[in-house]
Amino acid sequence: MRIGVLCSGGDAPGMNPCLRAVVRSAIAAGHEVVGIRRGYQGLLDEDFFVNAKGEPLMGLRSVSNLSKLGGTMLHCSRSEEFRTEAGMKKAAGVLKKHKIEALIPIGGDGTFHGAVALAQHWDGQIIGCPGTIDNDLMGTDFTIGFATAVHTAVEAVDKLRDTAESHERLFLVEVMGRHSGHIALYTALAAGAEVAAVPETETNIAQIVQHLQVLKARGKQSIMIVVAEGDELGGAEILNDDLKKAGCPFQTRVLTLGHLQRGGSPAPSDRILASRLGDFAVRAIIDGQTSAMAGEVNARLTLTPFTDTYVKHKPIPEELLELLNTLAS
Ligand code: F6P
Repeated sequence: MRIGVLCSGGDAPGMNPCLRAVVRSAIAAGHEVVGIRRGYQGLLDEDFFVNAKGEPLMGLRSVSNLSKLGGTMLHCSRSEEFRTEAGMKKAAGVLKKHKIEALIPIGGDGTFHGAVALAQHWDGQIIGCPGTIDNDLMGTDFTIGFATAVHTAVEAVDKLRDTAESHERLFLVEVMGRHSGHIALYTALAAGAEVAAVPETETNIAQIVQHLQVLKARGKQSIMIVVAEGDELGGAEILNDDLKKAGCPFQTRVLTLGHLQRGGSPAPSDRILASRLGDFAVRAIIDGQTSAMAGEVNARLTLTPFTDTYVKHKPIPEELLELLNTLAS
């Protein structure tokens, strides 16, 4: 069988080891892999990875040394054209033309929305792998890239703590998570931050300021607040203004980490997750499965229908938020 693979949406560290696993597991099972460059847009443009013989096929050596590389060798994109009815039909036509019978999209909720829409125009099998730093998909405990992004954010908060402590300041550090507080919460807990502002819980400025006054009276010299970009009050800049207006007892500074969190060599746990899920996606296709995402829940590999991965908001672990608040005393 000929299996297509692509990366779509925002890149995530671990997409490369996932590609490596897809290619090597498929070839080991006697199948061919077409690497589609630049996500769904590349599919529309018939932009395929081409090997040394000029064939649109990935080989064992085409994915050499990918485990440690951030980003994605196939590149990724967000395609407007693919979202249209005409784009879907065109994509289905390209897949048929190149005799691709199954597709493994690696990406987040937008990627899986795209997969569901594509399935209405194409009868091939589609099994996705969760590649997004946001960890906002149901059907997997963690998404590929989340651990690395948290690691990067924690390193940043640790460094900021040094300067915050020297100057007795408060830092608001904005991390990614358009609709989700996972990165913010895990970063805050790991870095020993005092507050995590996340979209899943109400961010109460008056309460935070009161808490900061108590901490200041106890002799705390520096404060770290980790803010999810999707916090319901707005990002770190807005929170900073609100805190100042409400009488924040510390001098403040703001840092937005932004896309820095998406780069870098994947953490070992992301490499392992990516390898397991890439291989599992191939095996699911060989088993005849379709329209589902490969994930890991309680250390077991599972398939979850695409729609179930994104219709419900993936909750943050409340107990971690409580722990953060207990420890931030
Ligand atoms: O989907 C992952 C994510 O990192 C979000 O947290 C963020 O809002 C978004 O991508 C930004 O993506 P871009 O700037 O690449 O469109």
